[in-house]
Amino acid sequence: MENTSSTPGQQPWSQRFESALHPAIARFNASIGFDIALIEYDLTGSQAHVRMLAQTGIVPASEAEQIVAGLEQIRQEYRQGQFQPGVEAEDVHFAVERRLTELVGDVGKKLHTARSRNDQVGTDTRLYLRDQIQQIQARLRQWQQTLLDLAEQNVETLIPGYTHLQRAQPLSLAHHLLAYFEMAQRDWQRLTEIYQRVNVSPLGSGALAGTTFPIDRHYTAELLNFGGVYANSLDGVSDRDFAIEFLCAASLIMVHLSRLSEEVILWASEEFAFVSLKDSCSTGSSIMPQKKNPDVPELVRGKSGRVFGHLQALLVLMKGLPLAYNKDLQEDKEALFDAVNTVQACLEAMTILMAEGLVFRPERLAEAVSTDFSNATDVADYLAARGVPFREAYNIVGQVVKTCLAQSKLLKDLSLSEWQAIHPQFEADIYQAITPQQVVAARNSYGGTGFAQVRNALAAARDLLKI
Ligand code: ARG
Repeated sequence: MENTSSTPGQQPWSQRFESALHPAIARFNASIGFDIALIEYDLTGSQAHVRMLAQTGIVPASEAEQIVAGLEQIRQEYRQGQFQPGVEAEDVHFAVERRLTELVGDVGKKLHTARSRNDQVGTDTRLYLRDQIQQIQARLRQWQQTLLDLAEQNVETLIPGYTHLQRAQPLSLAHHLLAYFEMAQRDWQRLTEIYQRVNVSPLGSGALAGTTFPIDRHYTAELLNFGGVYANSLDGVSDRDFAIEFLCAASLIMVHLSRLSEEVILWASEEFAFVSLKDSCSTGSSIMPQKKNPDVPELVRGKSGRVFGHLQALLVLMKGLPLAYNKDLQEDKEALFDAVNTVQACLEAMTILMAEGLVFRPERLAEAVSTDFSNATDVADYLAARGVPFREAYNIVGQVVKTCLAQSKLLKDLSLSEWQAIHPQFEADIYQAITPQQVVAARNSYGGTGFAQVRNALAAARDLLKI
């Protein structure tokens, strides 16, 4: 056990206490190790708060100016690596207030008038998340641009399409890539919607019940570019819905990145061999000289789990909390910060991987789409278009596939007389109808893989990114 001092500590609340915190408890209680990430937002939030205090006459304007300048000086010290508070500061809010008072004297002690750390930390977290959402949205746009560029180059490259991971029908590779473009678009939209709810100011809610001072919450909200203010002070200090919503959106981004990762991992395997990985984005094995490993998509797939975990953590954190602030809420930050950092890092790595880290192998893809029965639906459609009821056509083709398999043949290997023995409606144009190119081109329904549809989709995607 470490010794506990019998004299009061250095915290702003220490006068109320007989003795200092046990050093281990001080470390346990402190959030400065991670909430220092909020410092710039804390400074900006405090500057707005003290400007409001001057505007409303709660603090003289000259003193408010000194405080604003002192806070600005702390910003410079922090940026130059000269402000490194330790656990004795407890959290970033106390650390800033203490340094401010060192810099500007007793005037600094007025900063916390009409404010609590409870509305302060809520303000900081929202300012932080607002910024991060914008950065993630910018990364999503780069990600979409990369997918679009790759799709543009691969409209006519064909790739097997799967259901149940069994060959189903061939696709334009561009169509496959644009599916991820669409997912990213929803991810981007979701963040835009969530931003509206993140962008609400709790500042001025006080500890929980508001304040006795004639503050102007709308003024601080305006100074900080918030879209509105919390209408209820209890809700203002204890709501973390915005963080949970963000973690939900972050989780969906990770789901999407992880699904593509899984595909890239399969494609890079010897069994699929649809892509090869460039040296710049893969690693070797310490023992097997022949190996080239898809570490980037594997890590993205792996990291998705921790983001889902943070979402779960915050849901559980919140579900039993009585109103209003509880120290449990300090636990929201590491979850949020790690999710933000993970999503940013994964988007960056996947963008690099898809832009320059893998090469599709056209010869392998062409072989893959022409050596299977993924054109069988088209034979059934051929008969159905000539009046044979689809279910009947389906059964006929099922028998043909069975016979072909027994004879180690593909559909294209059947002679015209064999086709006509199967059904008199078959004519010489059946061969054209079942080439992989035609099979893809024929799926010209809206949103389908037909080349004309894919070109429309590319044009729409290009337009979307131009805005
Ligand atoms: N570090 C604290 C947190 O992150 C700040 C708020 C502290 N409020 C309090 N009433 N102890 O939640």
